[in-house]
Amino acid sequence: MAHLRMGRREAANRNVVETIEPKSHPVRSWAEDEDVTLDPTRDLFSIQFNGKKRSAAFEVTGNPCPMRSSVLAELDKRIRNKSARIGIMGMGYVGLPLATEFAESGFSVTGIDLNEERVKQVNAGASYIPDVSGDQLTCLVTAKRLSAVSGYEVLSELDVIIMCVPTPLRKTRDPDISFIVAAAEQIAKHARPGQLIILESTTYPGTTQEVILPLLQSDGSLKAGQDFCLAFSPERVDPGNVQFPIKRIPKVIGGVTPTCQQMAMQLYRQIMQRVVSVSSPTVAEMVKLFENTFRAVNIALANEMALLCNRLGIDVWEVVDGAKTKPFGFMAFYPGPGIGGHCIPKDPMYLAWKARLHGFEPRLIDLADQINRQMPHHVVGRVAQALNDRKKSLNGAHILLIGLAYKKDVNDMRESPTFEVAEALVQKGASVSYHDPYIPSAAFNGNPLHSTALSPERLQATDCVVLLTNHTSLDYDQILQHAPLIVDTRHQYGLAQQRNGHVVGL
Ligand SMILES: NC(=O)c1ccc[n+]([C@@H]2O[C@H](COP(=O)([O-])OP(=O)(O)OC[C@H]3O[C@@H](n4cnc5c(N)ncnc54)[C@H](O)[C@@H]3O)[C@@H](O)[C@H]2O)c1
Repeated sequence: MAHLRMGRREAANRNVVETIEPKSHPVRSWAEDEDVTLDPTRDLFSIQFNGKKRSAAFEVTGNPCPMRSSVLAELDKRIRNKSARIGIMGMGYVGLPLATEFAESGFSVTGIDLNEERVKQVNAGASYIPDVSGDQLTCLVTAKRLSAVSGYEVLSELDVIIMCVPTPLRKTRDPDISFIVAAAEQIAKHARPGQLIILESTTYPGTTQEVILPLLQSDGSLKAGQDFCLAFSPERVDPGNVQFPIKRIPKVIGGVTPTCQQMAMQLYRQIMQRVVSVSSPTVAEMVKLFENTFRAVNIALANEMALLCNRLGIDVWEVVDGAKTKPFGFMAFYPGPGIGGHCIPKDPMYLAWKARLHGFEPRLIDLADQINRQMPHHVVGRVAQALNDRKKSLNGAHILLIGLAYKKDVNDMRESPTFEVAEALVQKGASVSYHDPYIPSAAFNGNPLHSTALSPERLQATDCVVLLTNHTSLDYDQILQHAPLIVDTRHQYGLAQQRNGHVVGL
């Protein structure tokens, strides 16, 4: 018999527990922190609170719960002694750092990616993600702890498979989970008993339970919690954030069954400082969307404040900096030229879509999206106004955009507001070039452009510089000294420069 302890949150409701299923367990109330004896051959439990069925989070205490089947017991052992072979599907901004973390901790890791170029680069020890150094990658590849392939045959040899594939939006701004489905179909095709499958891609609540689980069980030969394990654990990495590398960010985990939960917790305990158990994959999916929606909404509030402060002649950064001196109840968010990257502009739309499916109108999420999406146009308005004040027009002006990455010190230009700013400027007759130390070339509206090297002559030849990304390595003094006009969307130059010189704020 296994000793299980009720999860803390459920234990708070201890007085209203009415029944536990399977029915073989006695109907009774449980006390907080009480050990409950359950039959280890049954791993799917649900409990009734006041007549309502709820899933229960169980925490194993004392001796670990014996795994239901010998294949899963073997998997558990292999994870603990780090002989489990780990596969990461999708070697991008999420997958590559995760793969290196597992490899660093002693596991043998195989990256699987459809992008042949990325596969070649991994195997050559050449990193394309700023958070992973080339030296680190080379060491792991040379030590044969990390390699990459572009085919799926390897899937059946792996003990653990983690999906880190993209989750974009369709043109209609609805979720596109086709990459997840394609990856899961390949896993199902190569599945064997004794594997742990984890989805890390950000997605709408219900994806793991309603889409992935049926796919993996479709031929009826394998059952979750018995033959294989399935869990959702959102990736919360913040690219470029050296203070919080992957292992320092608590890992939220929701398993399809308690056995799945335990197995996934066991895996992440090997590399993470803290793992956090939630009662289902759907809760874990919602946790991630809530976090990023929280950011999107608060950024929208900061952006709205910026637009208002602009009318009132107040500097919004000074306001935020003043407000953040309050030691409680306030968290600083800053305005900017718009939101970008593969998370903040997109994740709230996943949630909004799911809400609408359930007849719920997500008004705050939609409003935040509208405000954030208007910021690139506000920037263009500021440029036009600043030129006009100097008796110049946008039509015919040469504008140098500084920063193409969506945030500082990364090379990720997905959804970057710089593209929208450039497009609007060109539509109004301006000619546009860009500089970004992290992105040597890019396609603007289908036209290839190369990053312009900064020099005094180059800066003097522009009508206006628009600072859109405040990369640490930029020579801000040089820009300030030589550009005739600067629209500073990041408050890099502060209030003093705006008052005295040729710098215009957001
Ligand atoms: N980038 C971030 O900062 C971040 C942070 C947290 C969560 N996320 C989430 O993580 C997921 C991945 O994001 P990313 O930024 O790493 O994306 P990415 O585009 O950088 O990498 C995804 C990789 O998956 C590969 N791929 C696509 N389909 C595949 C398949 N069927 N098999 C194997 N490989 C496949 C692509 O070729 C690509 O290299 C997304 O859901 C994203 O929302 C991203």
